[in-house]
Amino acid sequence: MRILVLNGPNLNMLGVREPDIYGRHTYADLVAFIEETAERLGVMADVRQSNHEGELVEWIQQAMGTADAIVINPAAYTHTSVAILDALKAVALPAIEVHLSDVSAREPFRRISYAGMACSETYAGLGFDGYARAMESLVVKK
Ligand code: DQA
Repeated sequence: MRILVLNGPNLNMLGVREPDIYGRHTYADLVAFIEETAERLGVMADVRQSNHEGELVEWIQQAMGTADAIVINPAAYTHTSVAILDALKAVALPAIEVHLSDVSAREPFRRISYAGMACSETYAGLGFDGYARAMESLVVKK
C-alpha cells in the first residue's frame, strides 16, 4: 500500500513555530515518525510538505495511479481552500485529515474544514500520533 502524506504551509517550521501549540519536535522529526510508522505497518509513505496551495493540488492530482490513499494536514489551507477540497474529490482516493492541534478548541475560523469534507475521518489534537492513527485506519480499511 502506498500512502501519500501531505503537509501544508508552515509545517516546515515545526519546532520553532508556536511551540506551546505545536510542540518542540521539528518537521524532520515528523517525517521520521511517519516513516517509522509506515515501516511498522508494512506500507510505503511518500511524505511531502509545501507552502504553496497549487503545489499541494498538483501532488493530489498526481496521486491518481501512484498512491492508494492520502493522509493530509492542509494546515492553514484547511480553512480556506476549495481547490484542495476539489482535488481530493477529483481523485476520489481514500483520504484522512490530520491536525496536530485540536482545531475545534481554537479560534472559530479553524472549525471550518474544506478538505475535511472529502475525508472519511479527522484526527486532531493528538500531535504526531494523529498521523499514525490515520495510517492505521487506512491500512485496516484497505
Ligand atoms: C494545523 C491547524 C491549522 O489551523 C493551522 O493553520 C496549521 C496547523 C494543525 O496541524 O494543528 O498550520 O493544521
